[in-house]
Amino acid sequence: MKILIVSGTPGTGKTTVSQNLLNNFKAKVISLNELAISEKLIIKYDIDRETSVINEKKLVRFVKQLIESYNKLDLEFLIIESHFSDIVPNHYIDYVIILRCDPDELCIRLKERGYKKEKIRENVQSEILGNSANYFLNKQLNKPILEIDTTNNSIDVITKTIIGILTGKVDLNKYIIGKIDWLEKISQEDRLQIFFD
Ligand SMILES: Nc1ncnc2c1ncn2[C@@H]1O[C@H](COP(=O)(O)OP(=O)(O)OP(=O)(O)O)[C@@H](O)[C@H]1O
Ligand SMILES: [Mg+2]
Repeated sequence: MKILIVSGTPGTGKTTVSQNLLNNFKAKVISLNELAISEKLIIKYDIDRETSVINEKKLVRFVKQLIESYNKLDLEFLIIESHFSDIVPNHYIDYVIILRCDPDELCIRLKERGYKKEKIRENVQSEILGNSANYFLNKQLNKPILEIDTTNNSIDVITKTIIGILTGKVDLNKYIIGKIDWLEKISQEDRLQIFFD
């Protein structure tokens, strides 16, 4: 069983894409956000930021146990998805795919989800700065960290791209981290202050 980590800013499509992958492999998905809530691995709810603060230590312990039990199921892949999936210890990780989304499109997706202005702003800033990618870079994994731009791609196209990656049918170099730079893009467009005023 190989472990695929799917990360990215909220709204980039992690849950939708991960569920789609289940149609193509003998696989299971662990959605860390849902797991943390269902197993009560939450320290508190941060009202201002409208987000749950997870108990990372307990969650990691729980995830390790889950991985061990899924190991017995003869799965091709275990997909672990969340914007905080970097909590998974390095030695379990076989693939890291980070879903990215252009800040303007991400604003639209998060507005449609009913996120309030401040929460949209916080998440879009995080996407511009590439925080999800940076968390994995800091882990010093000896596995490639890949990024897929979801902005103008349908869920089906993204799913097919990931299948290509997992089956060795696409050139990984095309997706190696570092090619997507929203900060550079919006700086060149002189629109930095729109997102960071
Ligand atoms: N490639 C895409 N094109 C258009 N809409 C998309 C795309 N990916 C995701 N969406 C839409 O964006 C919304 C968020 O998707 P999803 O819940 O999968 O994101 P997520 O990354 O799991 O977010 P979170 O971190 O909050 O769980 C959904 O309404 C989904 O339909
Ligand atoms: Mg999700």
